[in-house]
Amino acid sequence: MSSVRGEFSSRFGFIMAAAGSAVGLGNIWGFPTQTASNGGAAFVFAYLVLAFCLAYPALMAELTIGRHGQSNAVAALRKISKPGLGHKSAFIVGFGGIVCASLILSFYAIVAGWMMAATIEPLATAAGQPAVASWLTEQSLIRDLLFTAFFIVLTVAIISRGVENGIEKWSKRLMPALLIILFSLIAYVLTQEGAMKGLQAYLVPDFSRIFEPKLLVSALGQAFFSLSLGTSVMVIYGSYISKKENLVSLGAYVTLIDVFIAFVAGLLIIPAMYVAQAQGVQIFSESGALLSEDTLVFQVLPALFDSMGTVGLVVSFAFFALMSIAALTSSISMLEAPVSYAVEKFGMNRVQATWVIGGIIALISFTIVFNFAALFGLVIKVTTQFGQPLLGLMCCIFAGWLWHRGDLLQEIKQGLPEAEHTLFWKVWPWYIKYVCPICIGLVFLNSVL
Ligand code: PHE
Repeated sequence: MSSVRGEFSSRFGFIMAAAGSAVGLGNIWGFPTQTASNGGAAFVFAYLVLAFCLAYPALMAELTIGRHGQSNAVAALRKISKPGLGHKSAFIVGFGGIVCASLILSFYAIVAGWMMAATIEPLATAAGQPAVASWLTEQSLIRDLLFTAFFIVLTVAIISRGVENGIEKWSKRLMPALLIILFSLIAYVLTQEGAMKGLQAYLVPDFSRIFEPKLLVSALGQAFFSLSLGTSVMVIYGSYISKKENLVSLGAYVTLIDVFIAFVAGLLIIPAMYVAQAQGVQIFSESGALLSEDTLVFQVLPALFDSMGTVGLVVSFAFFALMSIAALTSSISMLEAPVSYAVEKFGMNRVQATWVIGGIIALISFTIVFNFAALFGLVIKVTTQFGQPLLGLMCCIFAGWLWHRGDLLQEIKQGLPEAEHTLFWKVWPWYIKYVCPICIGLVFLNSVL
């Protein structure tokens, strides 16, 4: 089976691929922006607690279901449920996740396209092409269509090469590059005037804000989006893990890396906001609220980079290249969800399936670009506020309620050293059965009400 199906060739390869999926625009832009608009360090504290206590157990449910199934998400969920209603729900949840991943990719590709345009802009400036540079910075239909298409083609090119030569190989190259760029930028920003004020806002919590309902809901939603839950992505990545691997520690590494990069991205972005403010760029209103969330990255940061002179061109290039890389390792995981289904269910050739599905997603993206005001926010809301929490909750219910408990434990224990059959695994099945569904349900209700 595994000679026909793809499989990650090494532990490092899997960790880079799954962490690559998790680390994306959600960490490097979403997390710092949410932190800034939700009370700084208090949000960081809530996020850390929720990511480890709730998102990690939910991630384990998806990875375990996937490795047990050794197949696409629909078939994996079918395998652990009973015929009839169980199999019908398996289809709804598995296929729902695949649709959710595809729709997320359709808006993600647009934002990633902006990142790519912003990456090339300093090159155009350096080459003495101001007209090209300003075309790249101004939002226009043609620019958005071109760069969205370009980003989708890159994603397709990687995914059509399969698991080992595509996903694993590129994640192993791109993820370490991302870390190097991130740390270099932090080192630079922290030497600037105003940075220390930003650092303080980021690291010293105002605990009186911690129980604000919006703060908790945003923190949990952020943790969920960030770990790519509720999209079938982690189920399918789980299916490429060998039975010899220790799933518990693999999942823990992915969570740690994801949380670590979000935290480190905050170390860059929050001080950078205060540096920009010190340089006269208006970021916060009189009351201390963020003036603009969406446009911050494209207006404020380039203004900051401009003020650095020639060095700014390099910094700007590095920053947006970093954003594009992070987006690419996430988008390949989103595309793998529908592609693996088409290959296994309809026996399609992988390359063909990738191009066909990539084409369909590009059409959805173009429709969003043409109807930007009406569709962009709507697709984000439907997928991240409704789809992900609901489908993630269903995966916990599948693992906790529909899967025979003995089989669940047997799967999770494969590859686990005997000494590590610890307390955690006595607690986890119970936890995934009650605590996770209730808490995720609360988040979902909160976003509906
Ligand atoms: N986790 C990714 C990010 O933080 C986004 C993502 C969501 C990836 C859903 C795959 C599936 O940007």
